[in-house]
Amino acid sequence: MSALFASVEMAPRDPILGLNEQFNADPNPAKVNLGVGVYYDENGKLPLLKCVAAAEAQIAAAPKARGYLPIDGIAAYDKAVQGLVFGEAAAASGRIATVQGLGGTGGLKIGADFLKRLSPDAKVLISDPSWENHRALFTNAGFKVESYPYYDAAKRDRGGIDIDGLLTALNGAPAGTIVVLHACCHNPTGYDLDANQWQQVIATVQARKLVPFLDMAYQGFGQGIAEDGAVVQQFLSSGLDFFVSTSFSKSFSLYGERVGALSVVCASKDEAARVLSQLKIVIRTNYSNPPTHGATVVATVLTTPALRAQWEEELAGMRQRIKAMRVALVARLQAAGVKGDLSYITTQQGMFSYSGLNAGQMQRLRSEFGIYGVDSGRICVAALNEHNLDAVAKAIAAVA
Ligand code: LMR
Repeated sequence: MSALFASVEMAPRDPILGLNEQFNADPNPAKVNLGVGVYYDENGKLPLLKCVAAAEAQIAAAPKARGYLPIDGIAAYDKAVQGLVFGEAAAASGRIATVQGLGGTGGLKIGADFLKRLSPDAKVLISDPSWENHRALFTNAGFKVESYPYYDAAKRDRGGIDIDGLLTALNGAPAGTIVVLHACCHNPTGYDLDANQWQQVIATVQARKLVPFLDMAYQGFGQGIAEDGAVVQQFLSSGLDFFVSTSFSKSFSLYGERVGALSVVCASKDEAARVLSQLKIVIRTNYSNPPTHGATVVATVLTTPALRAQWEEELAGMRQRIKAMRVALVARLQAAGVKGDLSYITTQQGMFSYSGLNAGQMQRLRSEFGIYGVDSGRICVAALNEHNLDAVAKAIAAVA
């Protein structure tokens, strides 16, 4: 017997996906999973979007052999991503390098690995708080990760953001610092910068020569596809070079297909070609090339006008149901006796509400009521429905 693994320590569960494991193992029949950022319909079911089913039927009607994809993915998919995220004019400029990624996380990792080669000594700044995996992902890519102020609990009824603290941190960051920004539906807080605040961030990033990396995993879940993507237009107009990781996990309900992308906006077509060649090396040495199915589905939907219209309608339906659940949650919490101003729940946007509950309270929700949320106090509003709202509201009232 070799002692190779004798000293391997048991790693802690993932703070988000680990909750799924715990949830699945919980025998409580009344359990509710408000942990991971996944949209469930009014009956608590993961939806298969009609546009996706239609595209899959179309694909299945003309079955094809599966060769290796190009390293950067399906060309029609990459083009469709560019059109959706940046608009057709910017896409046609040729100065954006886009590669298919394994979900939004995959896009982030390709960007992180590329940046590590390009700027090995740069520091990464993420928001405080941020998606738990941001810190881990950039740390594992070899970066020192620090945070910039973002959420201000004292302001949770007035925008929720410490914009002065954020700008001060960016102003103090050395040139070349990579700044990870949530394009919309901030995860976990649900508070987004407004257009003016974004303009201030962009001006600071530009003045301090920082490297912006937008993470856009929830486009369409805030105000709408164009509204949520407006910040990308603001960055484009600034003339900055920047990174955008995008995901169709949520907006197409294709979580398990791992369909996302990384786009790098460069100064010129020639620069974009060189950047693309480097991204391909990152991909080739990680997983060689991406899978076929999910990206074919998304490209089919985005490039077929009728399916695209259907997708936009279905996405709007998900967005509206989440908003309705926010309103309903406020009413049920009040009915359950929770006092104080709860308007923050309807002000926050996207899949999450940052409840303000602490880790101990979140653990009580799990152990006493079978209600699973993230220890940070984040709950997934997109998993609420008429069948579980009362139980959730009563449980929150009991621990609050
Ligand atoms: C989340 O924050 O719950 C999602 O982005 C899923 C994930 O990968 O963590």
